[in-house]
Parts: sequence; C-alpha cells; structure tokens
Amino acid sequence: MAIRNVRTDGNPVLREICKEVAVVNDGIRKILADMLETMYDSDGVGLAAPQIGIPKRMAVIDDREGHVYKLVNPVIVESEGEQLSQEGCLSVPGFRGKCKRPMKVYVEALNEFGEKISFTAEGFLAVICCHEFDHLDGILYKDKAVEMERVEEE
Ligand code: NI
Repeated sequence: MAIRNVRTDGNPVLREICKEVAVVNDGIRKILADMLETMYDSDGVGLAAPQIGIPKRMAVIDDREGHVYKLVNPVIVESEGEQLSQEGCLSVPGFRGKCKRPMKVYVEALNEFGEKISFTAEGFLAVICCHEFDHLDGILYKDKAVEMERVEEE
C-alpha cells in the first residue's frame, strides 16, 4: 500500500464526471487499499478516487463506528429525510461547512471483489456517502454548502 497525493480544490480532476469501473481486478484493489491508507493518514472518514487523481467511480469510507467500506460504482438508489450536516473535505483544506443531506440513503455498489452489495446508511454515514459519491460527479460539498467557515489548520 502507499499513501497517495491528495488533490485540492482548483485541480481539474476534482471536476470530472468519473468513469465506471468495468472490471474489479488487482489494479482496482490496489487503488482502493491506497485510498484507505491515504484517508487514514489524513485522519479522514472518506475519500473518493478523483481526490488522488483517478477519475473512476470508487470511494472508501470509515465512519469511525465500525463500518469500513471499499465501494466501486456506488449508487444511491433511495433517500429519505433531511439533516443539516457538518462537513469538511481533504480536498478543501482550511474550511468546514454545513450542507442539507438526506437522513437515510440506500446504497448499491460493488465491493472490492466485484460482488454486488447494498446497505442502508443513516445519520453520519449517510452524509459521508452523499459527500463521497458527489466527488464522483465532480461536485464538492462547498458547492452545496449553506454555510462555510474557516478553520485553523494544524
Ligand atoms: Ni471530500
């Protein structure tokens, strides 16, 4: 595994509509492993492939409540409710902001072995899913934020 360079706002790769992964092979599994390691290195809860310069539909998530996901071609097929989230993004350093997100989403994806999986995400996990999957369509949370503020950098 390797820690990859995280691309930041202004890099055009963050605005691409990412391509579906056709075959989940060792190369894809290597990228997913690197994404997870890169995410942990930056103390994040989610990371999408374009954030490391790869415009493919992949995301990794750890909600810090025991749920770790490596997702390929993820899709939100249903959503319900609404919540006001507090979000930050490794690609938008120095800021955080609030967005309106669904309270609950139903997700379908492939796992790292190319098997179909589905799960329901509620609360914080729903926010992470929406945030990460938006990255795959070239959308940053700041595009949707109803409130943004500067935070102290470490
Ligand atoms: Ni992000």
